[in-house]
Amino acid sequence: MARAKSVYVCSECGASALQWFGACPACGAAGTLSETIAERSSAHRYAPPAPAAAPVPLAEIETRELGRLPSGIGELDRVLGGGLVAGQVALLAGDPGIGKSTLLLQCVSALESSSLYISGEESAQQIALRARRLALPAGRVRLLAEIQLERIVAALEAERPRVAVIDSIQTLYSEQMQSAPGSVAQVRECAAQLTRVAKRNGTAILLIGHVTKEGAIAGPRVLEHIVDTVLHFEGDPHSAFRLVRAVKNRFGAVNELGVFAMTEKGLRTVSNPSALFLSQHERDVAGSCVLATLEGTRPLLVEIQALVDAAQAPTPRRLSVGLEQNRLAMLLAVLHRHAGIATVDQDVFVNAVGGVRIAEPAADLAVSLAIVSSLTDRPIPGRVAVFGEVGLAGEVRPAPRGQERLKEAAKLGFERAIVPKANRLKPIAGLVLIAVERVDRAVQALREI
Ligand code: TYD
Ligand code: MG
Repeated sequence: MARAKSVYVCSECGASALQWFGACPACGAAGTLSETIAERSSAHRYAPPAPAAAPVPLAEIETRELGRLPSGIGELDRVLGGGLVAGQVALLAGDPGIGKSTLLLQCVSALESSSLYISGEESAQQIALRARRLALPAGRVRLLAEIQLERIVAALEAERPRVAVIDSIQTLYSEQMQSAPGSVAQVRECAAQLTRVAKRNGTAILLIGHVTKEGAIAGPRVLEHIVDTVLHFEGDPHSAFRLVRAVKNRFGAVNELGVFAMTEKGLRTVSNPSALFLSQHERDVAGSCVLATLEGTRPLLVEIQALVDAAQAPTPRRLSVGLEQNRLAMLLAVLHRHAGIATVDQDVFVNAVGGVRIAEPAADLAVSLAIVSSLTDRPIPGRVAVFGEVGLAGEVRPAPRGQERLKEAAKLGFERAIVPKANRLKPIAGLVLIAVERVDRAVQALREI
C-alpha cells in the first residue's frame, strides 16, 4: 500500500512542516509539532458545492431503547450503564499489571455473542494459557495476535464480531505513519480508524490503554474525545482490590464504580464493597474517621485516616493519598481559623483506606475530624459515620443524597452519624443523628459522644 504523506502540524499556530523540528519554524514554540496524515487536496475544489444535507426537527427523530449487550460481568455492566451498546467504543485505562487484560478476557469469555480478542502485547499461547488457568469458557472467543492497524481493520471487517478487544491501543501502528507505535500520532490515528469501523459495523470495541506515571492516559487526551466511554481501572497494586470507574460515558451515568478483587482465579466481583474500605481495628484508634461517601449512585463507607505529628522540618509536610492535596491545606486553615485548632508546627498526613480515590467535597468533615482525632490523640468513639462539605467560613454544607448515605451506614451497623444540618435528614431506626451547622460544633460533638 502506498504510504500516505505525513505532515507535522504545530498545535500552537497551526503551521505545517514536512519534517519534524524541535521548535516550530513558524512561531518558534518548542515541542509543539506532531505528526498527522496529510489530507489529499480535493480534486473537486472548483466543482459546484454538494447539495446541503437537510436538517431534521429534533422532536421528529424516532428513538428506540439502546439495545444493551450484557458484558457477562455484573460489576462491569453497572459501570457501563447496563451493558455494551452496538458500535460503542470504550477505553479501559490503567497502570500496567493492574488486571486490564484479565478483566477483558473474562468479559469476552462470558459473552453470549461472537467476540474477537486482538492482542499486541501477548502471544496467542500466553492468552490461551491464561484462559485455561482461569478455567474460562472460551469457546466462542476468537484470538488474533496482531499490531498492524490495517490488518486488524481487515480482520474486523471479515469477522464482524459483536465485541472486539484491542490489547492495547499503544502497541498498534498504522502503515500510513512514520512515527513509532505508542506515539501520539499513531495512538490518535489508530483510535480514530477503529472508531470508524465500530460505527460502521455496529461492533462494540473495548480499547485497553496504559496510563503514565502522572495518571494521564498515555498518548493524547484526544483519545478521550474520540471514544464514547472512558473507564479507569484503579487500585493499589499491593492490595487485591480493583475499582473500575466510568469517567466519561455517552451511554450512561459517569462515576459509577465497579468493585473487584484479584484472586488466583482472576477477577471476582465484590458484592459488599463497603466492608472493604473499613479497616478492622480491635479497638477504636485515634486518627480514624469513617466517611459515608458516594461513588456514582452507590453509597460507600470508607475509612479516612490522619496522622498528625510534630514537624521534622521548618516547613511542615501536608500529604494526602486518595484525597485532594489542595483541600487538605484548605481544611487545615479552616480548622485553625474557625475551630481554634492549630497545626502550624505539625506534619499532617491523610489517607483513604483501600486505595480508593475520593474527589467529592463531602469528604471534608470526615478528613477534618480524623485530623482533630489524631492531633488530640482521642479516638472517635463507637461506630460513627460522617459526611459533609466544609466551607471557608467554617460552615458545614449539605451533601447530595444524604439519606442514602445514612441508609448504608445503618445497614453496616453504624450507631451514630455526624451530618450537615442543612441536609434535613429523616431519622433512621438504630442511627443517632448529630446534625451540625459549623465545623467547631462538629469538633465539639466528638467530645460529647
Ligand atoms: P494483567 O491482566 O496481565 O494486567 P494488565 O493487562 O493490566 O497489565 O494482570 C496482571 C497481574 O494480575 C499479574 O501481576 C498477576 C495478577 N493476576 C492474578 O493475581 N491472578 C490471576 O488469575 C491473573 C490472571 C493475574
Ligand atoms: Mg495486559
